[in-house]
Amino acid sequence: MKKTDYFSAKFENDEFIFLDQTKLPLEEVYVRTDDYERIAIAIERLEVRGAPLIGIAAAYALALSLKKSLNGNNNDVAFSHAYDRLARTRPTAVNLFFALDLIKSVYETQKNSDNIYQTLLAKAVQIHNEDIQHCKKIGDNGLRIFQKKSNVLTHCNTGKLATGGAGTAFSVIQTGFEKGLVNYVYADETRPLFQGLRLTAFELEHSGIPFSVLSDSMAASLMKDHKVDLVITGADRIALNGDAANKIGTYSLAILCNYHDIPFYIAAPSTSIDRSILTGEDIKIEFRDKKEILNPSGHQLAPDHYDVYSPAFDVTPSHLIKGIITEEDIFFFPYNFLK
Ligand code: MRU
Repeated sequence: MKKTDYFSAKFENDEFIFLDQTKLPLEEVYVRTDDYERIAIAIERLEVRGAPLIGIAAAYALALSLKKSLNGNNNDVAFSHAYDRLARTRPTAVNLFFALDLIKSVYETQKNSDNIYQTLLAKAVQIHNEDIQHCKKIGDNGLRIFQKKSNVLTHCNTGKLATGGAGTAFSVIQTGFEKGLVNYVYADETRPLFQGLRLTAFELEHSGIPFSVLSDSMAASLMKDHKVDLVITGADRIALNGDAANKIGTYSLAILCNYHDIPFYIAAPSTSIDRSILTGEDIKIEFRDKKEILNPSGHQLAPDHYDVYSPAFDVTPSHLIKGIITEEDIFFFPYNFLK
């Protein structure tokens, strides 16, 4: 069933408008703001999430920090305050820093322009538009991974909700479905925050793609039963050697694929490649509050004094990744993104 449309975020009349993803799929609530601090909070709370969308939101937020700008000196203080605040929101997705640094470089070269807010905003719009183009190209490039009409397993959420456009891994799945190359999708529920159950299922239903949601621990037996032809996920940060950080549980999937001889692919825009790090060892992994495990969605499941280990991401070593699909091409192991 195709349902009415939705959007993850847009910029209109000097306000950033975003869909609060913590309320999906039961409620579709849009929030409008011109306050960069509200956007920073939205990123921290995962109201706005997914590596490319975090970058886009941060770019608009940094531009908005100078919406009421007065003069050059005050701007320097306000701008660096906003930059630091936004940079502290989430550490793993490199798209955040990529977008903030692009806005910063425009600020540094054009801070004396007549309307610096409009200048920064134009750059944020460009970052957003480029992501829309990247998503489309990732979908088209990804068609080459299908050898036949396939059953696909995916993890976390990589669609319209996670990006400015049609998604990364989700764009490959959707384009493949439209071309008759995707038969069925298995969406990992993606504990502990259930991005698969709450968000990917929402997007699959909207796209009319047949799917089942499964608990993360089901993947191995599904593969053993020959129900999965390939696995594709997104990434939050990719090192020069192809090691890729993505939602916790992605590494387990890559190992399972290796064991069952199933191809494991990553799809991500080039803005997710961190050209300053050689390997995944240098990727900073975010740890989440233990409340998200002990008290999911406000339901107390275990006492607050329990210690909890809750990394939000893991790093899949590049030798387990059959191919990395970007807007430029599909790259195959051994990876060298320096070239
Ligand atoms: O913590 P989240 O929900 O922001 O994590 C998102 C993911 O891990 C996605 O798989 C990743 O950002 C790829 S986005 C297209």
